[in-house]
Amino acid sequence: MRVLVTGGAGFIGSHTCKALAQAGHTPIVFDNLSTGHADAVRWGPLHTGDILDPVSLDAAFITYRPELVLHFAALAYVGESVVDPARYYRVNVAGTLSLLDAMRRHGVSRIVLSSSCATYGIPATLPISEASPQQPVNPYGFTKLATERLAADYERAYGMRWIALRYFNAAGADPEGELGERHAPETHAIPLAIGAALGSAPPFRVMGTDYPTPDGSAVRDYVHVTDLADAHVRAVDHLGHGGPSGAFNLATGRGTSVLELIDAVAAITGCTVPVIHAARRAGDPPELYANAALAEQVLGWRPRFVEIAPMVATAARWFMTHTEHTQQAEQTGPAQETLHDSLDPAGAGPVRLAQSLDQR
Ligand SMILES: NC(=O)c1ccc[n+]([C@@H]2O[C@H](COP(=O)([O-])OP(=O)(O)OC[C@H]3O[C@@H](n4cnc5c(N)ncnc54)[C@H](O)[C@@H]3O)[C@@H](O)[C@H]2O)c1
Repeated sequence: MRVLVTGGAGFIGSHTCKALAQAGHTPIVFDNLSTGHADAVRWGPLHTGDILDPVSLDAAFITYRPELVLHFAALAYVGESVVDPARYYRVNVAGTLSLLDAMRRHGVSRIVLSSSCATYGIPATLPISEASPQQPVNPYGFTKLATERLAADYERAYGMRWIALRYFNAAGADPEGELGERHAPETHAIPLAIGAALGSAPPFRVMGTDYPTPDGSAVRDYVHVTDLADAHVRAVDHLGHGGPSGAFNLATGRGTSVLELIDAVAAITGCTVPVIHAARRAGDPPELYANAALAEQVLGWRPRFVEIAPMVATAARWFMTHTEHTQQAEQTGPAQETLHDSLDPAGAGPVRLAQSLDQR
């Protein structure tokens, strides 16, 4: 199928384009390159444009006649969403609305949305399932929940079919070394820990060592980016074969603590990871992990990567062979974070922004 991939020049989108091409589909990337990279678009054409621009969207739909849309394009820094919610609602919610309306104008009625564990907020029970209450605690989480609601309402009213994939903490890099994670500022734990180990980023800050977890550090569910990409290919096939709409967790079900992650980085790089122990952040739950049985049942998806060490190995390979990217981590050091999924509910302001840039 011809698949329009908004945000296809970004981290998860580019890995998904590779997987789509390998599965025989044609990915057409629609991206404004605000955080993405043109050189990561290698498996189909790049249409440079903004999802908020209907003229540019129309041009892409007319030129490439996509049959289905994968929608990754979004802003994804929790702290920034607290400081500048207007921008987040505009790009993430109004942008999705603009895309859905372009799809309607061009008769395209299938979409896969990048949703997030941030839509659950702070869970009352673990593991998180799709039936867990969705109670976001920051604007970013609300924007992602709003896109799910938009899709469901567009189905009822206009027959749009949709899949919302709720990723937990995206991790790793293409095992073949062609693609990796290149965020600036980088706020994700694995690249920051690798940067700290290699001496190209500041010491790694462990935010909280007194949580009620086995080693006192916070626990998160890391899911490999190629497993996320595989889930998207399965979602395309599901919708392509007339499957019904639905929302699915993408997670391994296994929690990894920050200290376990650091040990894995040290073992794989052969370097000590310099760390600074810091206080807990308000709003960060001690533990987050999820049940992804529904994705297995309906999409036949099962993550190939479950242990943290092999995930870290793919990321380390990318950083060790692309030293220019480790420099980015160094330049943006003050914004360093230890956890992807800060559920920091409030606390706007520059300091708070620097400390809560990591939920995606
Ligand atoms: N990385 C994670 O751990 C994670 C977890 C849960 C959900 N998500 C979601 O997955 C998606 C992809 O995340 P990522 O980590 O690959 O982010 P990313 O920043 O690497 O990719 C986002 C892409 O969207 C593009 N983009 C942004 N605004 C745009 C606009 N207005 N018009 C066109 N293109 C635009 C960017 O240039 C970039 O290429 C996002 O929707 C994010 O909210 C990510």
